This record gives sequence, C-alpha cells and structure tokens, in this order.
Amino acid sequence: MRSFAAALLLLPAAFAAPRAGPNDQRGPAMNTLANHGYIPRNGIASFEEITLALMEAFNLELIFGANMAANNMDLLQLGKFGDNGPDGDNTVFNVETLVGIKKQNILMDQAANSEFQFAARRMNAAYGEASFLLNVFANGTTKQATLPIIGSFFRNQTFPPNWFRAASPVTGAMNGVAVSALLAAVPTPPGRNNAQGVYVADPAPPPPFNSSFGCAAYFDQLANTPGVLVNTTGIFKKNVELLADIEFQLASANPGCTQKVLPFGPAGE
Ligand SMILES: *[C@@H]1O[C@H](CO)[C@@H](O)[C@H](O)[C@H]1NC(C)=O
Ligand SMILES: *[C@@H]1O[C@H](CO)[C@@H](O)[C@H](O)[C@H]1NC(C)=O
Ligand SMILES: *[C@@H]1O[C@H](CO)[C@@H](O)[C@H](O)[C@H]1NC(C)=O
Ligand SMILES: *[C@@H]1O[C@H](CO)[C@@H](O)[C@H](O)[C@H]1NC(C)=O
Repeated sequence: MRSFAAALLLLPAAFAAPRAGPNDQRGPAMNTLANHGYIPRNGIASFEEITLALMEAFNLELIFGANMAANNMDLLQLGKFGDNGPDGDNTVFNVETLVGIKKQNILMDQAANSEFQFAARRMNAAYGEASFLLNVFANGTTKQATLPIIGSFFRNQTFPPNWFRAASPVTGAMNGVAVSALLAAVPTPPGRNNAQGVYVADPAPPPPFNSSFGCAAYFDQLANTPGVLVNTTGIFKKNVELLADIEFQLASANPGCTQKVLPFGPAGE
C-alpha cells in the first residue's frame, strides 16, 4: 500500500494517510502544508484535500499538483554548485546547480551501493523533484530559489517569511523544461548495477513507450505498480482509476505517448 502510494502518487500522505510521527514519510511540502493548517496535522487528509491545499499554497495546476513531491536533498551541496544571489555567493539554485548535484549524487550512489538502480521512473521522479526547487519553492516574485528559502521549506518545514507563491500556476510543462535540461546534461541513462557493480543501461520499453523518456518512465511506473490494484473495489478503485488517469495525462503530453496502461506490476509489500 505504502509503496504503491509512494511510487505512483509520489504523495504518500495523500493515499496511505500515515500518522505524523517518527515514521512519517511526508516530504517537506506536505509538512509545510500541515504546519500552516492547510491539511490536518495528523496526516489524515483526503486526496482532494491535499491536492486543493497544494494548488492553493503553491499555485500548482491541478494535474501537476496531484503529482507533487519533494524529497529531502542535501543543501550542503549548494556551496559547491550554487549561483550567486542576494544572500551571498553560492546561495541560489539554478539548472546548473541541479545538474552538478545530480551528477555528483549519481556517481557517489553508484559507487557506494552495489545494487544501485536508477530506473526510468526513479530518474523521472528525481529530476522532477529537483525541478520543483526552481518552479515551486522559488520566491514567486524574484523567481529565485535561495538557500534561506529552500532551508526554510526543507529544514524547518515552514513557509519562509516574505515568501510569495508563483504568480501564475506552475504547470507540468514548466517543470518539464528543467527536467529536459537535466536529462540533456546528466549523461547517465536509466539503468542499474550488474552483479559486477558495473552500471548497465536498462533495455528500452516496447513501442510506443520507447518514443520519449517521459513515456518510458510512465511505462516503467505502471510496470512497477501492483497489478492487483486494478481489481480493488469502491473508493479505493476510484482512486486507482483517478491516479492512473493523472499519470496518463502527464505522460501523454509527450508526442507519441498515446497508449494508456493500467498498473501491471508484481504485488508490493
Ligand atoms: C528555522 O527556524 C529557526 C527558529 O525559528 C530560525 O532561527 C532559523 O533561521 C530557521 N531556518 C531557516 C533556514 O529558515
Ligand atoms: C521575495 O521577493 C521579494 C521581492 O519581490 C522580497 O521582498 C522578499 O524578501 C523575497 N522573499 C524571500 C524569502 O527571499
Ligand atoms: C521503438 O522500438 C521500435 C521496435 O523495436 C523501433 O522500430 C523504433 O525505432 C523505436 N523507437 C525509438 C524512438 O527508439
Ligand atoms: C483481476 O481480476 C481478473 C478477473 O477476476 C483476473 O483474471 C486477474 O488475474 C486479476 N488480476 C490480478 C493482477 O490479480
């Protein structure tokens, strides 16, 4: 259940509704919303409540808001890759910052973890989340994602003082620009370490899913979302259908990504 929510939704609190606590898996965006009363503090909120709260607080378009996520990331790396800004040198995130951080993280993780995997769905999520820093968390007036702003969201999990949300809705297409820049600049293809610890590219999915990275990530996502979810009933099934529709709407923004698939992966934990 939890793994499905985390994987398909990228929004654990919305679907699994875990209680806030030591095992709370909500990201900074969720906690920030809870800390400011947008969603219940105990984490029990409906999918609709969370989507509406995200849209309101961060000015996200509905489809994109539904796929919102924010993982913790290492602010320390900003000192190495950051741009200069009002709060000093190396204090602003830009695309080059994200590229530098991702390249370094991938190299380190690949070397440190013999079972390292960076499948298309994970790459898509990782690059999408990185792009949120620029589009969702940046000060809406200056468009700058500075160290104090990102620190406030990710460390304190509160809205920074004098922070303004984006003036117009943040869309999936806007985020796609930064994701594309990451894909172009980070040379690692989707893949995984083999038994010898050598990184090997994953095989391409069948057509039409090999038509773009976004479409391949979509296929990989559904291939790793438990197929048994299709056989649920009632409100649960309604949510599965809603989420499958959202996933397809996002994926089908890529030309040629025309085939909808329902979850067909092995059962999770
Ligand atoms: C976090 O909160 C503390 C206490 O309110 C404050 O002193 C600190 O500056 C905040 N840090 C960030 C990065 O916002
Ligand atoms: C956001 O930008 C405005 C200027 O448009 C500035 O006054 C404010 O301090 C900025 N907020 C943060 C958190 O940097
Ligand atoms: C997708 O796979 C088909 C069949 O293997 C191949 O003919 C086609 O060129 C591939 N498309 C792309 C964009 O790689
Ligand atoms: C879903 O239900 C159908 C019809 O009962 C069955 O044939 C199929 O194997 C089930 N799928 C899964 C993944 O359990």
